[in-house]
Amino acid sequence: MENKFQRILITAALPYANGHIHLGHLAGAYLPADMYARYQRLKKRNVLFVCGSDEHGVAITVSAEKEKTTPKAIIDRYHPANKAAFEAFEMSFDNYSRTSLPLHYETTREFFADFYNRNIVIEKKEQQLYCEHDKMFLADRYVEGTCPHCKSTQARGDQCENCGSWINQIELIDPKCKLCGSTPVIRETSHLYFPLGRYQRRLEEYIKERHERDGWKDNVLRYNESWFKEGLQDRAVTRDLTWGIPVPVKGFENKVVYVWFDAVLGYISSSKEWALKRNTPDAWKEYWQRDDTKYIAFIGKDNIVFHCIVFPAMLMAWNDGHPDEQYVLPENVPANEFLNFEGQKFSKSRGWGIDVRDFLRFFSADMLRYALGVNLPERSDSDFYLKDFQARVNNELADILGNFVNRTLTFIEKNFDGKLPPLGPLNELDKGMIEQIKNAPEKISSFYEHYRFRDAIAETMNLARAANKYFNDSEPWKTAQSDRARCATTLNISAQVVRALAILFEPIIPATAEKIWEILNFGTLLRSEGWDSAGELKIEEGHQFKKPEILISKIENKQIDEIVHFLEGSSSGNGESKSAKSYISIDDFKKAELRVAKILSAERVKKSDKLVKLQVDLGSEQRQVVAGIGKHYQPEELVGKNIVVVANLQPAKLMGQESQGMLLAASDPEGNLVLVTVEKDI
Ligand code: MF3
Ligand code: ZN
Repeated sequence: MENKFQRILITAALPYANGHIHLGHLAGAYLPADMYARYQRLKKRNVLFVCGSDEHGVAITVSAEKEKTTPKAIIDRYHPANKAAFEAFEMSFDNYSRTSLPLHYETTREFFADFYNRNIVIEKKEQQLYCEHDKMFLADRYVEGTCPHCKSTQARGDQCENCGSWINQIELIDPKCKLCGSTPVIRETSHLYFPLGRYQRRLEEYIKERHERDGWKDNVLRYNESWFKEGLQDRAVTRDLTWGIPVPVKGFENKVVYVWFDAVLGYISSSKEWALKRNTPDAWKEYWQRDDTKYIAFIGKDNIVFHCIVFPAMLMAWNDGHPDEQYVLPENVPANEFLNFEGQKFSKSRGWGIDVRDFLRFFSADMLRYALGVNLPERSDSDFYLKDFQARVNNELADILGNFVNRTLTFIEKNFDGKLPPLGPLNELDKGMIEQIKNAPEKISSFYEHYRFRDAIAETMNLARAANKYFNDSEPWKTAQSDRARCATTLNISAQVVRALAILFEPIIPATAEKIWEILNFGTLLRSEGWDSAGELKIEEGHQFKKPEILISKIENKQIDEIVHFLEGSSSGNGESKSAKSYISIDDFKKAELRVAKILSAERVKKSDKLVKLQVDLGSEQRQVVAGIGKHYQPEELVGKNIVVVANLQPAKLMGQESQGMLLAASDPEGNLVLVTVEKDI
């Protein structure tokens, strides 16, 4: 990173709160953003990492209509769900906001009114699609048709997901009203327009300059070029809808601001909310309004035009009129391509794919982070196969990393009482290994700095691989008898690599890194030395380690069968909509044995801040139930409560503890879990 930068601002696209986060989302924007943020924090850089839910737009209202409810109910369901899913995936956001907050309304109105007052946004009459049956203008996703660019038949009124184009709706070929299926007519209506064309030359220059400085990805550059080649057009930034932020301009109060105009400003609002929460209301400006901030915007490819063209143009427009409030523009927009699932595109309507929260019921976040990470769609679309997932976890995470950590510490435990043995004279193998430790942080850094996350992960795993080879070639099990000093040196160096791996793997698999620190018996102070210290031999002779335990357990075929079975049960696979399959029969319901149970005792499961182990009384018998409520309840306050458990759920093991049932809980809009309890002893 160039020295000129003092702070790093990281944003990840605000997902629509109209459905669950799935693996495709993670691979597009979120995992890379989180790895980058964690890496930069380890480099001791001043980082602000924000995200939040995108809660406006037709994406939300269409979902509400489909699920026969209100837009408000939709966002209040999916915002907490997605927030929780991101937490379970160990996303390290400094703030996760939502665009329905008053604070965000203010931000949006401020920009919009300013643009209107300064004659940047102007009124125009234009042809738009109108449905005579539904008596409305068909904004955005209310109309579908054939994309004028790639000829995909599933393009929407503003965007084609297939080729990523931002479409002017009257260019759609063969448009159809999404509500009634009829062909809309063309009618004139009046909207406020943002003059994108006016910024074209500056945008081109901006991208060229940033690319020279920070190396933009080819896919992003090519995409932008095609936009410039076509010539940027004025774009309507108001809509004839009721769901959204009312336009703060006289005569336009019954229209709302176009969702993309408000969504990108959501990054700023989320930063403001972060600053307010920590009682430093102006702190957000240090990130947004200083030219020594490096701002990196992580997105999926379908968002490129909005982040490379629309958002920068909006910020330029603001900056032109406010010399004292100069917003920073993205230094880079490392957009990923798409991830497919088992050879097919993720599709909500076809029920194809898997949600994060479902996946994490079967496997740990780290397993998923690793397997997605090695296979990110960085240059082209990539595929997620469950069999691959299993192989990556077993052959790499468990067999290379897990095995190396385990054999090193087990050996020290058995032969040196669990204390770090001394480093003696070095042979060639030792020198080679020390050299590799020394070089690793910088080598891996350069991949992170260039947004090459797959390479960063591969290089990190290579260090563990090299360490395993070093261990094998040094044959400590032989020297333990024949040459104790030699054996001690091998184990000293091996343990030093374990520490290096705890640091270097943290951005990728944070929970596992944490476990390694635990086994190493390093307190918070010792852990905090940062990225560059991974290259040094920092553990002192005589340091006492803890008893090693299995870091990563292998995935058995049976577990893969279980998730496949689950997927078969949950996806219709035949084009049926989700609402049709969300009904269950009374017989299905009867299969679940719901029982009231009294909590007799509760204790935390070691090394987990989420899991609590409960002994419960079902009246007829006692059971042990392990539940992920540790962040929301203290064990003491649980004892004596009457809860509801699903008594006939197949027992499962959570962090080595058997759970014989599942308790019922629900989350409030803040994402806090609340137990379902019964008032009386029954
Ligand atoms: N909600 C959009 C999507 O899921 C992304 C919005 S990114 C933002 O495609 F910058 F506008 F917030
Ligand atoms: Zn298209």
